[in-house]
Amino acid sequence: MSAQVHQVPAQSMKITKVKEQIGAIVTGIDLAQPVDTETKKRLYDAAVENVVLVIRGQAHLTPAQLQAAGELFGELMEDQNRLYLVDDYPLISVLDNFHKDSNGQPAKPGKNATWHTDHTNQELPPKFTMLYAVAVPDKGGATSVCNSRAAYEALPSELRQRITGMQTENTLISSTRFHIANPDILKAQLESKKPPTVHPLVRTHPETGTKALWFHKSKTEKVTGMTPEETQDFLQDLADRITQPQFCYAHEYQKGDLLIIDDRASLHKAGHDFDHSQQRRLYRMLVRGDRPK
Ligand SMILES: [Fe+2]
Repeated sequence: MSAQVHQVPAQSMKITKVKEQIGAIVTGIDLAQPVDTETKKRLYDAAVENVVLVIRGQAHLTPAQLQAAGELFGELMEDQNRLYLVDDYPLISVLDNFHKDSNGQPAKPGKNATWHTDHTNQELPPKFTMLYAVAVPDKGGATSVCNSRAAYEALPSELRQRITGMQTENTLISSTRFHIANPDILKAQLESKKPPTVHPLVRTHPETGTKALWFHKSKTEKVTGMTPEETQDFLQDLADRITQPQFCYAHEYQKGDLLIIDDRASLHKAGHDFDHSQQRRLYRMLVRGDRPK
């Protein structure tokens, strides 16, 4: 029997926009089943157009099926945090408030959360970050995502001109955050001999040609020409502009939600506002991207 028989008809899938500037919810698809080419393209295009896509109702997926769902969006890449991975699935990493660091202390990954896009210290940062909800608190713990393309377009023209051509120097963690860093990350940074990775502050989307503000505040050692402290203040000002409510969507998870974030046109942040006696456990997959230009 051919796999065709099991294919989900494209017309059963529904994509509903959350709001004008950001977000769409997908229902009526089972990612445990093969996905046809047309459906795959609709999902991909919706993720790019809406910046964040939420595919509901996938709590039944095995890790293999989850990985196959991730691969609908491109080639998966390794998370640079290798401490917490799903057994036998090294391309699926685990975010969990119950993790311990190497000193046996709660790792509290969200405690120092800042607005960011992922892995900017790499030459080829991911194009999509996918988050799959395995365990969720009763309330809070949202992932907030903001459209940094719309925010860029809304900047005053003088500011747009001022930031044209600016570059960021990216490391594992900015020296301004050494005092609050996870000890494992701090150690890796202090032992690293790698020079900072230089990227444009304003990035052109390789598929749409649109421009977006693009940075990871805690990984930016400097905007070229500024001190580390000036850099943090400057990026905070830009983050404040990007995180205006009209550009943002805060997704509170239901178990089995699969979130797909277009990292090339957004900033995101984990919510720490939940009862930490409850578990918040997400599986993360990253899709390989291009060199930012
Ligand atoms: Fe992130």
